[in-house]
Amino acid sequence: MQLATRVIMSKITEKILLKEFKMELKGKDFITLFDFNNKEINNLIDIAIKLKQDTKEGKTHYELKDKTLAMIFAKPSLRTRVSFEVGIRQLGGHAVVLKQDEIILGERETISDTARVLSRYVNGIMIRTFAHQDVIELAKNSDIPVINALTDSYHPCQVLADLLTIKEKFGSFDNLKLTYIGDGNNMANSLIAGCMLTGIDLCIATPVDYEPDTNVIWKGKDASIATKAKIEVINDPAEAVKGANIVYTDVWASMGQEKEAQKRKKIFKNFQINKTLMNKAAEDAIVLHCLPAHRGEEITKDIMDKYADTIFEQAENRLHAQKAVMVSIM
Ligand code: CP
Ligand code: NVA
Repeated sequence: MQLATRVIMSKITEKILLKEFKMELKGKDFITLFDFNNKEINNLIDIAIKLKQDTKEGKTHYELKDKTLAMIFAKPSLRTRVSFEVGIRQLGGHAVVLKQDEIILGERETISDTARVLSRYVNGIMIRTFAHQDVIELAKNSDIPVINALTDSYHPCQVLADLLTIKEKFGSFDNLKLTYIGDGNNMANSLIAGCMLTGIDLCIATPVDYEPDTNVIWKGKDASIATKAKIEVINDPAEAVKGANIVYTDVWASMGQEKEAQKRKKIFKNFQINKTLMNKAAEDAIVLHCLPAHRGEEITKDIMDKYADTIFEQAENRLHAQKAVMVSIM
């Protein structure tokens, strides 16, 4: 066989291999993990593992050949921007980045008109914005799949990558406890969905009045009926971290809350991942952080250094997890 023919054959084989994992998610939006069941999330993670392995071995997948992803950013980003753009490129497609100052989403024209126009140019829309409702509105009016790349309420792409990291480290989601320390924000909400759907017990410790939305906790409880995962929300980080296999944190002031940063530093000062806290976790515990990290605030420098390999693997996994989402829905 000529080298060129062998290369083509290997690409075709890879495409067939990937099909084995696939569910019928084509055309579906990726807005929260609650929109997927346990089997679908596990499948997405298995596709991500396969794509990661193949990428490392130099095997290519052109499943999204000539497809275009519009990427709307109303907030800053490093990981999301680069991993989506590189990810679609690795799958044979390409991205068009639209910054908020260019399109002025929801002001220059209605979100519905934006959705209808983009549906005629591109094959998928990724959006990072403030109001979760705007993403729902965009998806409702689009003929193409919409991916939520962070809203004030949810960050499902991050948690899919986190679940991939957890599976790589522990081999499965069985008998694990994840403790989240910090603000009951978009990360906490998405971790509720991700943990309850995969069967990871979750304990969240926040300051009083910074707990996750009660509606999200109830959605989590509903999702946990199938997996029997436990969820607990308390205000004591030392108690929360006891026996945890995964200790997770996020910034105290999220994008859009910059004016509250000083006030929050005082309120959250006891909600820091440090050596004393980690001593109460399980012996094999890992630390995860969605990044960006603020050393000396939600996490100490020594803990960041100690768990850097896992935390930066977690950041890398954004690429593989999002490729799995794109090949499945676009
Ligand atoms: N974790 C995360 O979403 O990073 P960016 O804000 O840099 O995209
Ligand atoms: N809660 C953070 C997550 C950053 C990835 C924020 O919304 O800014």
